[in-house]
Amino acid sequence: MKGGVFIAVLVLTGVTTNLSYAQDAEHGQTIFKACAACHATDHANRVGPGLEGIIGRKAATAPGFSYSSAMKQSGIVWDAKTLDAYLESPQKVVPGNRMAYTGLKNPTDRTDLVTYLATLK
Ligand code: HEC
Repeated sequence: MKGGVFIAVLVLTGVTTNLSYAQDAEHGQTIFKACAACHATDHANRVGPGLEGIIGRKAATAPGFSYSSAMKQSGIVWDAKTLDAYLESPQKVVPGNRMAYTGLKNPTDRTDLVTYLATLK
């Protein structure tokens, strides 16, 4: 009997975690509208490079995109942590980079945005 309750709790926890993940990603997609003026969610380069597969990508490696030397020399690999820092303050993390975006100050918004970016694969 006790074991059954334990499993039920585990299952329920799993369901809520998945649900909140989906909601976070959905909220992140809304925030992404501010990025979509310059970035495509696939490999197409616009004003900014295409962001498909951005998690795990080395900075300045989208084929055919002409990056600033600041971005090329940043040595960053994009993951949840580096994206969070860059999106909070692009010019602080990569001084002299050409992304004309002042930064997203709300930490929850940033986390949700990065959760959404992680779905672009
Ligand atoms: C006004 C246009 C513009 C907006 C708005 C913008 N970006 Fe960018 N972004 C760029 C440009 C241009 C670069 C390339 C910068 C460079 O080479 O110095 C870039 C680079 C990046 C990179 C590095 C990509 C790589 O291949 O290394 C990421 C990640 C990124 N942007 C994410 C975002 C996100 C997320 C948002 C929304 C919060 C956003 N950007 C808003 C223009 C923009």
